[in-house]
Amino acid sequence: MIREFAPAKVNLFLHVGQKRADGYHELESLVVFASVGDELVLEEADALSLDLEGPFAAALKNEPGNLVLRAARRFGELAQVEPKVRITLAKNLPVASGIGGGSSDAAATLRGLSRLNRGRTNLQALWDIAPELGSDVPVSVLPGCWLMSGRGERFSNVNDFPTLDALLVNSGAPVFTAEVYAALGERTGTGSAKRPSRVTRMAEVVDYLRSTANDLEQPARSLCPVIGEQLALLEGSGALLARMSGSGATCFGLYPDGVSTQMAAEKIAREHPNWWLAPTRLNFGRRWEIQ
Ligand code: C5P
Repeated sequence: MIREFAPAKVNLFLHVGQKRADGYHELESLVVFASVGDELVLEEADALSLDLEGPFAAALKNEPGNLVLRAARRFGELAQVEPKVRITLAKNLPVASGIGGGSSDAAATLRGLSRLNRGRTNLQALWDIAPELGSDVPVSVLPGCWLMSGRGERFSNVNDFPTLDALLVNSGAPVFTAEVYAALGERTGTGSAKRPSRVTRMAEVVDYLRSTANDLEQPARSLCPVIGEQLALLEGSGALLARMSGSGATCFGLYPDGVSTQMAAEKIAREHPNWWLAPTRLNFGRRWEIQ
């Protein structure tokens, strides 16, 4: 039996460039992973199967072409083995919410299957099949701090970026990625983002991030106005910076420490007891490796 942790992904910034011939947009993004995430258990079995549990399992049951099963089948083709494995996915992250849960699940499936089939694949092979599963899957194969570009298929490691205390907020309102891209207007574009260098203290992180943006925030807010309310509540609860992740609707706030993060979560929960609120740590090491 193998366990894999599938951490939430947060785009600390996301700059969107031109639409390419393949229909995808050029991106530049600083990506980190959180200490909150989905959990997968892989067990050898007679055939490939997927069981869903956890708070967001029901939302996933309605999604066609589950990424975990697609990843497992693609792995089987690559390694030339039938993936006879029972996968149990504890879906702790809200679905289709800009924090890459499905992508992280797919990447965790690839990692878990490669551990079950030692010697049949390597990371490079996993990275080769990752982009076809989704734009966020390549960076999720090895969760870390990545400066990502292209459609998401190019990325380079940022190894001295600090750990951050953050609160993730999602009201439950759905946002559809393709619609957000279609509503894009003004944007920063690609080519201008600087690699973070000597960005270690919180004030430096905030300064650095203020010189960037999430270009999808405006179009997502116009489609889903509650995003504006999420951001205002984060700012009103002491966040040093509040921004949307990915194509939304999840937003994150950065706080000076864990206590102020927890207090902000409690404050927002009093007003919105049904919202998903996750006080977490971003870029905090390699929890996904812990078995
Ligand atoms: O790759 P993923 O499944 O995350 O993309 C969902 C949709 O978002 C795509 O079909 C496309 O419309 C849009 N997209 C884009 N440019 C990207 C990533 C996604 O236009 N770089």
